[in-house]
Amino acid sequence: MSQDTLTITDNRTGKQYELPIQDGTIKAMDLRQIKLSDDDFGLMTYDPAFMNTASCKSRITFIDGDKGILEYRGYPIDQLAEKSTYLEVAYLLLYGELPTSSQLAEWTKNITYHTFINENIKKVIDGFHYNAHPMGMFEATLGALSTFYPDAKDIFNIESRWKQIYRLIAKVPTIAAFAFRHRLGMRYSYPDNDLSYEGNFLNMMFKTTELTYKPNPVLERALTVLYILHADHEQNCSTNAMRSIGSAHTDPFSSLAGAAAALYGPLHGGANEMVLRMLKEIGSVAKVPDYIKRVKAGEFRLMGFGHRVYKNYDPRARIIKQVAYEVFEVTGKDPLLDIALELERIALEDEYFVKRKLYPNVDFYSGIIYQAMRFPVDMFPVMFAIPRTSGWLAQWMELLDDPDQKIARPRQIYLGHRTRDYVPIDQRKDN
Ligand code: ACO
Repeated sequence: MSQDTLTITDNRTGKQYELPIQDGTIKAMDLRQIKLSDDDFGLMTYDPAFMNTASCKSRITFIDGDKGILEYRGYPIDQLAEKSTYLEVAYLLLYGELPTSSQLAEWTKNITYHTFINENIKKVIDGFHYNAHPMGMFEATLGALSTFYPDAKDIFNIESRWKQIYRLIAKVPTIAAFAFRHRLGMRYSYPDNDLSYEGNFLNMMFKTTELTYKPNPVLERALTVLYILHADHEQNCSTNAMRSIGSAHTDPFSSLAGAAAALYGPLHGGANEMVLRMLKEIGSVAKVPDYIKRVKAGEFRLMGFGHRVYKNYDPRARIIKQVAYEVFEVTGKDPLLDIALELERIALEDEYFVKRKLYPNVDFYSGIIYQAMRFPVDMFPVMFAIPRTSGWLAQWMELLDDPDQKIARPRQIYLGHRTRDYVPIDQRKDN
């Protein structure tokens, strides 16, 4: 008997089955042969929230949550954050290798060429109420964009596919900044293609009367690091949404709108906002011990702590903490930082947190940085969506090229009524 197999005895029938194990996994479909009788459907697995189910084979992002490792295409996140730029990392995620100088120049040119949006898209944004949430505007505008590019439906035409990728990576910062300025009632600031990807975003967000906007290099670099850290995180909720919608062969604009909708949720892209609210609620360093006491008593959770995958210090949190100090050199220190540092200090020493392997996650510091850079709280999920666009698109490409993939369609365990006769309305009784 091969060692790379799993032997299962079905105690209902006494039959034995030998299933192959590959990459530490058995195929769920191999269980279907395990039946009570010929007309039995066969055994399934029950796994709400995909807690122990691999939905794909991927070569993009590697995470070892116990050791606190995150790598894109094999490159450790700390090296990329220190040495790379966002567009270079986006190239890496999408093509699988770091670009040469000429490849990077071509890639940057292609993205930069597409930063403008059709003037009619501005009218879509203009149509939103003055206080519309920027993430709602962002995802709706992405959906609207699909109607501007009918060629995006040609998803198996490689040339067309890349064109949509250039367009999407180029236009998401423009949509985000226009949504922000619409809410403020400020004139839109058009892309400046002489600036870097990150510098141009700051230009579209914050330019007022200056003829040419000059981004602060420290803040520009901080944005680069934050973008790199958020570019991909393997099969998280929004990426799973992107793959699931993409599996229906939907165009990438509509698929991305769906992924952004998943990111909008407070359990996913909204946690850094909750961290900020928590720090404000605590109010001062002196009140931290009492707050920790209440967390330990189970009154509420410490926001920005703990992670489904990381049971060690989130490698992104370590990098972000350093960025926070650099940003505060420019913007002045946010008093919330002292509260955050004290919370972290106490929590990392406290048995409650140590025993449960609760460490700061990426969201613990990112909100404080965004606030210091003058991004309002409801822009935080949009700030997350801009860099995640490259990760979503890399995962979408991988899905389309994977011969194992089909339209995503989970099974269910049906527990409801079975066949019963329709009851006319006048014969129905209150339950
Ligand atoms: N504060 C206090 N206790 C916590 C925290 C926390 N932040 N997180 C987990 N715990 C405790 C739980 O109460 C539980 O304790 P128990 O065993 O005594 O019941 C134990 O740790 C395990 O918790 P689970 O909920 O099983 O852990 P899970 O992996 O399901 O949750 C999650 C992960 C949702 C991130 C959780 O840690 C949490 O709610 N954190 C706060 C919210 C947050 O920061 N979310 C951002 C995540 S990062 C991202 O999505 C980009």
